[in-house]
Amino acid sequence: MSNILHRTGKGSYFLGRAEDMLSDRNLKRRAGKVQLILTSPPFPLNNKKAYGNKSGQSYLDWFKNLAPVFSEMLTNDGSLVIELGNAWEPGRPVQSPLPQRCLLSLLDHETTPFVLCQQFVAYNPARLPSPAQWVNIERSRVTDSYTNIWWLSRCDKPKADNRRVLRPYSKEMRDLLGRQAYNSGMRPSEHNIGEKSFLADNKGSIAHNFFEMEQLDGNRKVRLPNAFNVPNTISTDAFLSRCRDLEIRPHPARMPIGLAAFFVEFLTEKGDLVLDPFAGSNTTGYTAEVLGRRWVSVDAEADYADQSIVRFELLDQQTHRKVANR
Ligand SMILES: C[S@@+](CC[C@H](N)C(=O)[O-])C[C@H]1O[C@@H](n2cnc3c(N)ncnc32)[C@H](O)[C@@H]1O
Repeated sequence: MSNILHRTGKGSYFLGRAEDMLSDRNLKRRAGKVQLILTSPPFPLNNKKAYGNKSGQSYLDWFKNLAPVFSEMLTNDGSLVIELGNAWEPGRPVQSPLPQRCLLSLLDHETTPFVLCQQFVAYNPARLPSPAQWVNIERSRVTDSYTNIWWLSRCDKPKADNRRVLRPYSKEMRDLLGRQAYNSGMRPSEHNIGEKSFLADNKGSIAHNFFEMEQLDGNRKVRLPNAFNVPNTISTDAFLSRCRDLEIRPHPARMPIGLAAFFVEFLTEKGDLVLDPFAGSNTTGYTAEVLGRRWVSVDAEADYADQSIVRFELLDQQTHRKVANR
């Protein structure tokens, strides 16, 4: 069976349910070769998005059954990165522990347990107030404004190098490097800062496990400047504007490209294979392609698979423009 809907020199997009496609012979060929699975599965939401969501125990069972399938696809030092939002109990101002149960189902899996390498938070300051009933109407909860990102692996030391994802230095740090003099001595925290501390130029500072996905105000100094502070606003998103031109309704839950880029660069090298089993508009495959990695993507919805092609048409145009301008 060949369900390939789109193919480039570096990757293929398969149409079908992940649980079926990953046992299809086309994808089985790649078992043990995937360096990174990067995905945001359908969320366990109460107000269901257009692409549909399971809820409660049936979601948990479905999620847990993915563990052996993912484990089989990964290289021995491969990574699994999952982005999952928070969930709320239906009709109650109470958060559901379902996302955390999903995480534990992978860590405690009886046959293919994963380890939690690190947890990340993706904060979206532009997130609309929700859940609306409790935040907007009753005013008894605050805006739920972040998603959970779990970096998992089958081993304690998956391939990873934080030197590939350095944050740009702050102005203060650049000034310090220019001066080559630091206010050394004991700090109230009882850290003793040496005379030469912090004076080496390492081309950037080490990333944090916290992403600020969007600037609240373009004129404001970014609070947590980092390389992955990705303005994902409508006006700057070429994919969205092209969808508008083509009268395509864009995927409602796209992963920010900067987030995908962070994990692709951090956890893989050029030529490695990246898989997204719930690819939607294929942010993962597109990012992998731009960064010189190979990719395989799967989604159950033909409309999303179709619209993902727009990303690559834009990329082709950019490439052609670059070649023409040489
Ligand atoms: C949160 S969205 C992923 C969005 C994607 N990261 C992007 O940037 O566009 C989840 C996706 O999972 C897909 N989906 C839901 N159930 C699926 C299944 N059983 N197998 C494959 N895809 C599925 C939905 O169609 C949806 O596009």
